[in-house]
Amino acid sequence: MKRARTELTGTVGFVPTMGFLHEGHLALVRRAKRKNDVAVVSIFVNPTQFGPGEDLAEYPRHTGRDLALLKKEGVDIVFMPTPNGMYPDGYSTWVETSGITEILEGKKRPGHFRGVTTIVNKLFNIVLPHKAYFGQKDGQQLRVIQKMVTDLNMHIKIISVPTVRSKRGLAMSSRNMHLSDEEREAALVLYKALSIAKDLYMRGEYDATRIKAKMTGLIKREPLAKIDYISIADSDSLQELTCINRPALVSMAIKIGSTRLLDNRIIG
Ligand code: PAJ
Repeated sequence: MKRARTELTGTVGFVPTMGFLHEGHLALVRRAKRKNDVAVVSIFVNPTQFGPGEDLAEYPRHTGRDLALLKKEGVDIVFMPTPNGMYPDGYSTWVETSGITEILEGKKRPGHFRGVTTIVNKLFNIVLPHKAYFGQKDGQQLRVIQKMVTDLNMHIKIISVPTVRSKRGLAMSSRNMHLSDEEREAALVLYKALSIAKDLYMRGEYDATRIKAKMTGLIKREPLAKIDYISIADSDSLQELTCINRPALVSMAIKIGSTRLLDNRIIG
């Protein structure tokens, strides 16, 4: 694949994934395909970004279906390494971005982002893309990757792609498959809470604490939902804001039954 970048005059667009593809992934793939001469997708359920007791073994896999979808999209190369290929015995090098990885998802999942930055770095070194596509759906991950690329002077343009949702607002996610019909209905509360935040802000409410209180009230009225965290943070540093006087990432992790869902939107 090294040759793809050095021998080509065009651009290589890359979409890293963990497979079990849905319309959210495919939005990234379509963008990479449309905007580049060569589109590369990786499928790799990266063990180092799962903590002990997390759902690595249960992470859904359906490679045959994924490959058929990618073929239909006209993807040029699909890279599917094995865990041993990526982390052979004696593997001992890690890439870590500090400051924005210990909060929010990082606080709940220690070591998660170290696994993400390490594998993304390795994949970048193998694929050598000019551009790489990440979803706004994982807002903190996107910010961490952008920071890693800037801090390490990597010659790769990170493109953020808006969150793909169902008609009623539920963000597409591999984890939605665990939801029963009733839970799927309850899960709409995430989007409703984000919409409330946006509406309040648009009506001149800049007090982050008051907006969070309204979001919390709404989610607490949904019996199947349990709040893990709700955050309104500076979209760049991810530090919590008390007043929304600059672009803010409104993000949350909510458990619906036993399924933990993430969603976010930028306001301001
Ligand atoms: P995965 O969860 O498979 O997601 C791959 C990419 O798809 C990520 O950039 C994610 O933000 C994006 N994505 C997922 N759902 C989306 C949606 N509804 N709308 C738009 N984009 C969406 O994120 C990972 O894998 C891994 O951490 C990875 C970066 C591959 C490293 O292992």
